[in-house]
Amino acid sequence: MGSDANLIVCADPAALADAAAHLIVDAANAAVRERGRFMLCLAGGETPRATYARLALPELSGRVRWDRTWVFFGDERAVPPDHSESNYRMAHETLLSRVSVPPGQIFRMRAEHSDADGAAAAYAAVLVEAFATRRGELPRFDVVLLGLGVDGHTASLFPGSPVLREVFRTVAAVHVAAARIPQRLTLTFPVLNAAARVVFLVAGPEKAKIVKTVLAEQSTLPAAMVRPTDGELVWLADRAAAALHPVGEVR
Ligand code: 6PG
Repeated sequence: MGSDANLIVCADPAALADAAAHLIVDAANAAVRERGRFMLCLAGGETPRATYARLALPELSGRVRWDRTWVFFGDERAVPPDHSESNYRMAHETLLSRVSVPPGQIFRMRAEHSDADGAAAAYAAVLVEAFATRRGELPRFDVVLLGLGVDGHTASLFPGSPVLREVFRTVAAVHVAAARIPQRLTLTFPVLNAAARVVFLVAGPEKAKIVKTVLAEQSTLPAAMVRPTDGELVWLADRAAAALHPVGEVR
């Protein structure tokens, strides 16, 4: 693991969800205090479900200024928002429909659009407007949540994809032949690495091997290329996912 990354090992998936949800609450409060708003980028896949559900419970959700929170997505599959494979749908069901974020502050990726490059450019424009970035400036999320695939992908940045070398665009359309839904939109490394804090959520024994590989010093897998240039990198893993890695901080 790079020296700038913290690995926090949680006893089980419930403890992982609890730690992640608390981290989000604390980051939201700090961001609202310091800059008046909280810019959050959600992860897709299955692992974050429990975190979103935990965050949506009154005990924690009551501590977040949702009216000062803006919500974005790290990637999306080319399916409509009500599709069972939609990352937006998962986040909506578990979190966004349960808390009072103004709908105008939730920005889903329209990956189902037939013009994939156009949809990527449109999401990039959404970021420019929401962050009020100047030309050449990158949006800086307060928190980016990410998952880890067993092949080392994160968001929809898959091993061997040309998008791994992207330096200009913040959002790209990708085609991943091996994936269940091959067509996707994804944020790129420049924007992920411009974040103030990136948090990986990883659970389950099927992730143990890839966690060890990605956190090894010389890994060039996509997830290992997430290294915030001026921000914090946190890996939250449950005991099963961290089983093959020399232990980090155990909670
Ligand atoms: C997606 C993702 C992807 C995901 C990992 C881990 O849309 O597929 O965002 O990067 O986070 O594949 O997924 P699980 O949490 O389901 O294992």
